Amino acid sequence: MRGFTGVTVVDHPLVQHKLTRLRDVGTSTKTFRELVREIATLLCYEVTRDLVLTSREVTTPLETTMAPEIAGKKLVFASILRAGEGMLDGMLTLVPSARVAHIGLYRDPGTRAAVEYYLKTPDTLAERQVIVVDPMLATGGSARAAIERLKEEGARDIRFVCILAAPEGLDAVRGEHPDVPIWTAGIDRGLDDHGYIRPGLGDAGDRLYGTR
Ligand code: PRP
Ligand code: URA
Repeated sequence: MRGFTGVTVVDHPLVQHKLTRLRDVGTSTKTFRELVREIATLLCYEVTRDLVLTSREVTTPLETTMAPEIAGKKLVFASILRAGEGMLDGMLTLVPSARVAHIGLYRDPGTRAAVEYYLKTPDTLAERQVIVVDPMLATGGSARAAIERLKEEGARDIRFVCILAAPEGLDAVRGEHPDVPIWTAGIDRGLDDHGYIRPGLGDAGDRLYGTR
């Protein structure tokens, strides 16, 4: 497979095993939801691996010492509605004090363009690491629109995490936002005529919420 600059594929066996179960058309809605949550937790571990540390004084039962802690303000997880919600709890499991932004986007079925219907973010995005979450990066339209909107709201340090990506979407997002690194559990062959990732896992929102 060709390489993508700024893209990290999380090839941990647990992630890969769970992704295979997600792809399986026989996986129930309940299990699909659990797997998305579990994969999100594992991806969160990877996307936060190089967060900057500072040190502070801590008093143990035996003595006072200097010990590391994460520098700066609390992280922001930005969930792209609606499928991003499936990943949010899994991310918050590891970083429970993170702030949360929501951005509502749907793909217009005709043009496939991302249409915004909701936005709510914490203040002070400019001073925080923002991690955008959405299980699927297909054409990249939703991710590009979300990142652009968050930048308009002041975000300057953005990362993007998804479960499955298409090469077309990676090129589109990295082309427009080369400052935004991406983490994904897999890069598939490409898109079909309807903009679905192949082989993929189907419509993540519908499978998460049992809407089709
Ligand atoms: C899905 C998915 C992404 C988007 C990816 O959402 O969760 O947000 O498609 O496709 P793209 O890269 O071509 O934009 P969808 O628009 O189906 O909305 P939903 O989450 O509300 O189901
Ligand atoms: N959105 C999904 O949920 N699945 C795809 O394959 C493409 C976009």
